[in-house]
Amino acid sequence: MPACSDTSQILEQDPPELIVPAIGAWPQFSPPLRIGVMASGSGSNLEALYEATAKGCLEASLQLLIVNNPGCGARERAERLRIPCQLIDHREHNTRESLDHALVSAFRAADVEAVVMAGWMRIVTPVLIDAYAGRLINLHPSLLPAFKGLDAVGQALAAGVRIAGCSVHHVQADVDSGAVIAQAAVPVLASDDAATLARRIQRQEHRLLPWATALAGVEWRREGQAFVQG
Ligand code: GRF
Repeated sequence: MPACSDTSQILEQDPPELIVPAIGAWPQFSPPLRIGVMASGSGSNLEALYEATAKGCLEASLQLLIVNNPGCGARERAERLRIPCQLIDHREHNTRESLDHALVSAFRAADVEAVVMAGWMRIVTPVLIDAYAGRLINLHPSLLPAFKGLDAVGQALAAGVRIAGCSVHHVQADVDSGAVIAQAAVPVLASDDAATLARRIQRQEHRLLPWATALAGVEWRREGQAFVQG
């Protein structure tokens, strides 16, 4: 019988994680996917997408980043990484629909075939969802369908779950409710607070988002290379 493993080291190491479907061979896209990205925050997931393209894992071109906050980190990263970036400030739109019409116009002008919401902190409407039907995906820091909406990490801690994680899913009108494409799980440690758990989840987001985008890309291209803009 094998010896019991020494558990004293476990909490000192980066805890194990799990991505499903597991990362395997990256699908190839010829021509590369033409991706639009939406971000409101620091943009670390934007950069993870960019790095996956730069390494040649994710065969995609980031055609346009749209941010809604003038001072957000995503905008600075886009400048450094030379990703085209446009500010569409939600404060200049009276309705969610008006904001989404502006997003659709910008993505169409940039010849985007699919859109990744990488930390977009606004609720989107059918104006955007229908314009990119089946081609709009979102990153959420929970194992959906658990802990939808705001402060998913805090919700997980408050619920006392022992496994947390993140999901990439298709977007539909009900917030955080569309079909899941891929998920990553991480343990919740007894010593965790919201910041430590969020950091552990975010490390997995950076692996998950490019992979889930590639998985979704297979479907987008299967549905027809010729994505006809409506
Ligand atoms: C991510 O943790 C994502 O799950 C949430 O917003 C965060 C964005 O982080 N929706 P960043 O801007 O990519 O660093």
